[in-house]
Parts: sequence; structure tokens; C-alpha cells
Amino acid sequence: MSGERWDLLIRRARLATMAGDGYGALDDAALAVRDGRIAWLGPDRELPASATAAEEFAADGRWVTPGLIDCHTHLVYAGNRANEFEMRLTGATYADIARAGGGIVSTVKATRAASEQTLYAQAAPRLCALLAEGVTTIEIKSGYGLAMETEAKMLRVARRLGREFAVDVRTTFLGAHALPPEFAGRPDDYIDAVCAHMLPAIAAEGLADAVDAFCDNIGFTPAQTRRVFEAARALRLPVKLHAEQLSDQGGAQLAAEFGALSCDHLEYVSEAGVVAMARAGTVAVLLPGAFYFLRETRVPPVDLLRRHGVAMAIATDCNPGSSPITSLLACLNMACTLFRLTPAEALAGATRHAAGALGLADRGILENGRRADLALWNIGHPAELAYHLGYNPLSRVIRQGSPRASGVALLPHESEQ
Ligand code: NIG
Ligand code: FE
Repeated sequence: MSGERWDLLIRRARLATMAGDGYGALDDAALAVRDGRIAWLGPDRELPASATAAEEFAADGRWVTPGLIDCHTHLVYAGNRANEFEMRLTGATYADIARAGGGIVSTVKATRAASEQTLYAQAAPRLCALLAEGVTTIEIKSGYGLAMETEAKMLRVARRLGREFAVDVRTTFLGAHALPPEFAGRPDDYIDAVCAHMLPAIAAEGLADAVDAFCDNIGFTPAQTRRVFEAARALRLPVKLHAEQLSDQGGAQLAAEFGALSCDHLEYVSEAGVVAMARAGTVAVLLPGAFYFLRETRVPPVDLLRRHGVAMAIATDCNPGSSPITSLLACLNMACTLFRLTPAEALAGATRHAAGALGLADRGILENGRRADLALWNIGHPAELAYHLGYNPLSRVIRQGSPRASGVALLPHESEQ
């Protein structure tokens, strides 16, 4: 029988497979790729002697993890809100600013006024910052257009980023993010427009992979959110929810009832909400960047989530208001320091559980048959990915089996014994 023929073979690596609990570490390992998928992995000494590869390199003890996945971002927007940052530092709260007509609505004005090209040009550097840290899949939401054409514009920009950069983009329609000024005092009419016109048109153009809403005292009510979810279900689109960020609305239970992929934020979630998420297999997406940036004090109930077996993902929530952060690694650090996750939980949150939050079963773990989206790191232990702050140890990225220019030089690595 002739030997295996692979496209790429990485030898003398240390793998954090992220399969099972912990890192799923495999020392002195090899990993082979064929047709963009992982074709073999295991101890280097067990490599089939007859196997050959078109390209082979030695990782020299570098760690290999699944490519990172940022499963919650509002990456596409125009302008910024540094002025509101200043206001909050002199006493105004995020909710005060939103109620006074600032907040999300001020980014809506800027985003509506921006051309597609401007939006693209402003989002691209943010995307590059994330890619330079090993991100290979990113979710991008709409929600700063709040009208048919401007929501579609945002999602087209997101799709274009996915075509022009070496990253997989998953898009989420977030029409129910805030009430646009022209619907002031008429939130139910706006939800009618979202359900009857905007969402069906967005879905028909293939612009959304999922549907999200902001259910909170400055967002939409559970009853309004339910209507959005029913419209999504009719179009067979999966749902997720900005839930219990500033108050407990029972959004987690509602989302679980619709089999939501994820509930995100969750600082105020109740035990009943956590139980409902556990039953539905809904992932908890924790967003420590928003918690940090808004100087919140109430942390999400991590122990409850653990006790009920709810998977926890970590994302940047990159947006101009509550989390102007373009570093997923910094968010791993904050998940540990602010929310008390272990570094292994944090890394699982940016790999396997982030994949779960996007409904992507083909990635997030190093395992035969999964996509060969890999990040190689100049580190001595995977806990370092959450430990450093403001330091990027990425060595190189392989995406679907092909090397990707990461913008970061391949540094010589001395493995630490
Ligand atoms: O995830 N909470 C609602 N949405 C965003 C913030 C958006 C904004 O302030 O522009 C969030 O925190
Ligand atoms: Fe968000």
C-alpha cells in the first residue's frame, strides 16, 4: 500500500488541541494537512514512515493552537466615540448617554453618512490588528444602520472584508440594536419593519448567517425580541442575543427557548437563565472588554455557568461605544483577571467554544477532519496567551492549510525546557 501524501507537515511541535478539558496538550507532536483539513496528528515518533508531504517544516517546539475565533464583534462602523469616553470619566453612565440620544445612535448617524468604501477603509485596520494575533474566523454584526439599505451596506462591507482578507467572516443581522431616531416613541413599529421588511430582504440577499438583538432596559423588551426571533426562525436563521448586560430581562430564557447559539454579556443573568441555557446548549459569550471599558462592577456568574455546564466563549465585542478593543489576547487576559477564568478556559473560549457560539462544528479544535486553521506561538506554555498583556507572541498562521502572511515576522524560537 502506498504511503499518505500530504500537502503540509508540521513536525516537532507542541499542540494545544483544545479537545476535552484543559489544553489537550500533546508534546513532541506532528500535524499533517491535506485539502485544507487536518489529516493526521499525533506523537512525532508515530508518524507513518511511508508518509510524505509537499511541504514540511519543524516548529522547533513552538506551540500550535487552533486559529483564534472572535465570535462577537461590531467591527464595521464609522467614526468613534472618544467624546463619550470623556463624558463617562466625568460621571455620565453608558445608559445616561444612550437616553440623551448619544451612544449607539451617534454611531448610527456616522455609519449612515459613510460610503461603503469609507466603512471598509475604517474597518480594515481593526481587522488587521485582530488577524495579527492569530484570528482566523471573525463574526461581524450590523446594527449601526437601523434601516434596510444601511444595514445591508454594513453587511456587504463585512462580506467584502471576508473576501479580501485571509479570514472567515460570519455575519449577524442586528437590526434590533437600538431605536432609530425616525421611530422615536414607536419601538413596536420599528420591530414591525425589522421583521416584515429588513430581515427578509437581508436574508434573501444572503447577507446574514445569524440574527441578534439587544434585549435590555435601553434596548428592546423580551416581547419585541421574541418577535425578531420568530421572524428569524421563519427564515431558518439561528439566533443569538445581547442578554442581561445591564439588567435581568429574562433574555437568556427567551433565547434558550429559540435554541440560541449564544447569549452574550450576561452580567445580570439569573440561575434560571443559566439553567435554560444549559438545557438548550446555548454558549455563554463573555465580553470582559465591555465590562472593563464601562467600568462595570457586576461580573457574570462564572461559577454558576461552570456548575451547570454552560460552555463559555470570550470575544472582543469590538465596537466604538462599550469596547473599542482590537485585541482578543487582551480579552483573554481580562477574562482571567476580571472574571477569574483559568487561562485554559479563556483559550477554549477563543477557540472551541467560540466556534460553538457561531454554530461552526468544523473548527476550534485540532482533530482529524477539522479545518487546518492554526496559530503558531513563540511561547513556553499556552497559559502565556492569557498571561501577557499588550504583547503578541504570534509566530505564524496557517489558514485552511496555507501559510498566511500575518504581518508579524517569524521570530527565532528557543524552546524553554
Ligand atoms: O455589545 N450592548 C449593546 N451593544 C454593544 C455596544 C454598542 C455601542 O455602544 O455602540 C455591546 O456592548
Ligand atoms: Fe456587542
